[in-house]
Amino acid sequence: MKSKPLKNWTPDERISAVKGIFNTITPHYDLLNRIMSGRRDVAWRKFAARRLPSDVNNILDLATGTGDLAIAIAEQFPRAQVTGADFVEKMMRLAETKTQAKGLGARIEFVAADATSLPFGDSEFDAVTIAFGLRNIPDRLAALREMKRVVKPGGKVITLEMTFPRNLRLRNFFRWYLNHMIPIVGGMISGNREAYTYLPDSIQDFLTPDQLGDLFDLAGFKAINKFPLTFGLTYLHEGIAE
Ligand SMILES: C[S@@+](CC[C@H](N)C(=O)[O-])C[C@H]1O[C@@H](n2cnc3c(N)ncnc32)[C@H](O)[C@@H]1O
Repeated sequence: MKSKPLKNWTPDERISAVKGIFNTITPHYDLLNRIMSGRRDVAWRKFAARRLPSDVNNILDLATGTGDLAIAIAEQFPRAQVTGADFVEKMMRLAETKTQAKGLGARIEFVAADATSLPFGDSEFDAVTIAFGLRNIPDRLAALREMKRVVKPGGKVITLEMTFPRNLRLRNFFRWYLNHMIPIVGGMISGNREAYTYLPDSIQDFLTPDQLGDLFDLAGFKAINKFPLTFGLTYLHEGIAE
């Protein structure tokens, strides 16, 4: 991994670092999410699942990782079919194990895929989601356009991403927590401190909620909404493809 600031990494350096990180931290990923977010991550994904229209049958969850959002969606919509896609297969193997354990194996399938070049046809899905994945993708506009391509006209696309709260005190606390606590706790549990240094850097390097809203607009979505969750630590963005 590079020691230079994240904003100076080339797209290829970033993609290769992201693959390396998620290949290494797979077994600790869920536990660390719960600890570091105080279990708020579970509530954020449930909120995302509830923002999907009630008539969705066929949903794509991109950058699905260990499958938590794919599972939350399958639980929210008991007749729906969910496809999880990610370019780190090790994360998806764990997702598969979790899915089987919950008896959801028949309704969730996992496909190896890069979010910027999906192996799916145009308008294949009723909705597309991506949770905590977009900030890891150097070409975010390409990813949003690809989501728009594979969702049906009128279909919804939802993103969840961590952001900095607006409140100054909370913001300062969050910055301290990200830069000091997360590398220590993440490093201790996963044995990979660098991975948990990348995480705070990637949040700090990401777009503001307004900038992400503008990118939705640029990608061609309509009816764009954004919702701050837990004092704006995370934002849900949604848009409708036309
Ligand atoms: C922080 S994890 C999020 C996992 C899951 N969505 C969740 O809510 O916990 C980010 C995931 O994005 C995946 N990822 C990053 N860039 C990707 C890309 N271009 N295509 C597909 N997956 C990608 C990583 O492999 C990793 O599994």
